[in-house]
Amino acid sequence: MRSTGALVLLSVCALTAYYIYSPVPDNIEQRWKLMVTDCFFRSLSHLADFTELLGLADYMDVMMFITLLEKVVPLSDERVKVVEERFDGVEVVVYEPRKNRGTGEMRRAIIYLHGGGWCLGSSKMGPYDLLSRQMVTELNAVVVSVEYRLAPPYHFPVPFEDVYRVVKYFLQSAVLDRYKVDPERVAVSGDSAGGNLAAAVTQQLQLDPNLHVKLKAQALIYPVLQALDLKTPSYQQNQHMPILPRTLMVRFWSEYFTRDKSFLTAMLTNSHNSAESFALLKFVNWSVFLPEPYRQMYNYSALSISTDKTSSSLVDPRASPLLVPDTVLRQLPKTYILTCEYDVLRDDGMMYVTRLRLAGVDVTHEHYAEGFHGTLMFTLWPTEFEIAHRMTDNYLLWLKKNL
Ligand SMILES: *[C@@H]1O[C@H](CO)[C@@H](O)[C@H](O)[C@H]1NC(C)=O
Ligand SMILES: *[C@@H]1O[C@H](CO)[C@@H](O)[C@H](O)[C@H]1NC(C)=O
Repeated sequence: MRSTGALVLLSVCALTAYYIYSPVPDNIEQRWKLMVTDCFFRSLSHLADFTELLGLADYMDVMMFITLLEKVVPLSDERVKVVEERFDGVEVVVYEPRKNRGTGEMRRAIIYLHGGGWCLGSSKMGPYDLLSRQMVTELNAVVVSVEYRLAPPYHFPVPFEDVYRVVKYFLQSAVLDRYKVDPERVAVSGDSAGGNLAAAVTQQLQLDPNLHVKLKAQALIYPVLQALDLKTPSYQQNQHMPILPRTLMVRFWSEYFTRDKSFLTAMLTNSHNSAESFALLKFVNWSVFLPEPYRQMYNYSALSISTDKTSSSLVDPRASPLLVPDTVLRQLPKTYILTCEYDVLRDDGMMYVTRLRLAGVDVTHEHYAEGFHGTLMFTLWPTEFEIAHRMTDNYLLWLKKNL
């Protein structure tokens, strides 16, 4: 009996280890912690697939559990004043420094856009709340963290438009005055899908003739920048990496644009381009814009045109900021781009770095050779990673010097 019990226990352990084990590269620190964290994400994803299959709940409704789990109530403390309000109808959380309120000193401001594939996430998740407070105390900045509406109920362009409205509202001189913000020191920033929104908003603002306040900087953390080529070398190399496997990223894109599941199927095989988007492939040609070492052994192959399953949003630069010509890039402010090696989105960021530099924009590029997608979110127990603190420090340092 005892040996049977031991055998069962051993099998359970072996199965658990097999399930938890994922091929995490050797140079990633705290590998086992990442495997366990990812195991939780993958289990939830499997559960979400299953409930959708049974017709009980949509995939994203189940995935939203992570957001709910990490949600906090943002409260004021002795250093930071926190107020939840609406800017032009859009929910925002505003974080302000308490000190210097009475003095005439003008502050910086950062409009921050959270990640989550336009479908998940919230400015009120613990790690974002913490990051906002750090920006306030270390940069003496006002932080506007935007609670834009999410897909699937709100497809593109709603999330973009929510963010655009907030930025335009905030940049009015009366509003900047109210927060004692220096109009010359306002930046937009975001991670992942938030980096996508930040890049898109920064471009569209430069094109707006009615706007007189210009942004000082944009800071993009592993941003999503294009939906035309979902088989760049980084998409191939990292298709099974923790946190954001290729299938999940493609799913986010598809849900951002449409409810039509056949578009997802087309995107998964990279056969979703229309004749119109095909003509824009030159802007995301990785064999031209990716530095040599990152092309590695991948061969560039021409994509084909699909006539049926496509979306008109594909060609919209408000969704894919890489699709604008150089004339638009040239007017962009100082830029910070963070990329991670083990991230399907690595090449989106890398290509933007190349294209912006070719257009003469001042770009700081920080690449983490041991980084994975979503790293910046892992600053709190029990999923705290040392690399997340290093990343945060470097990002804050750049803002301190450049904003
Ligand atoms: C991409 O660049 C390669 C050269 O490196 C070229 O042969 C190919 O035609 C380009 N494709 C597009 C769509 O621009
Ligand atoms: C890329 O092309 C070269 C030369 O044509 C070939 O030897 C190699 O196997 C190709 N690599 C891949 C990943 O297809």
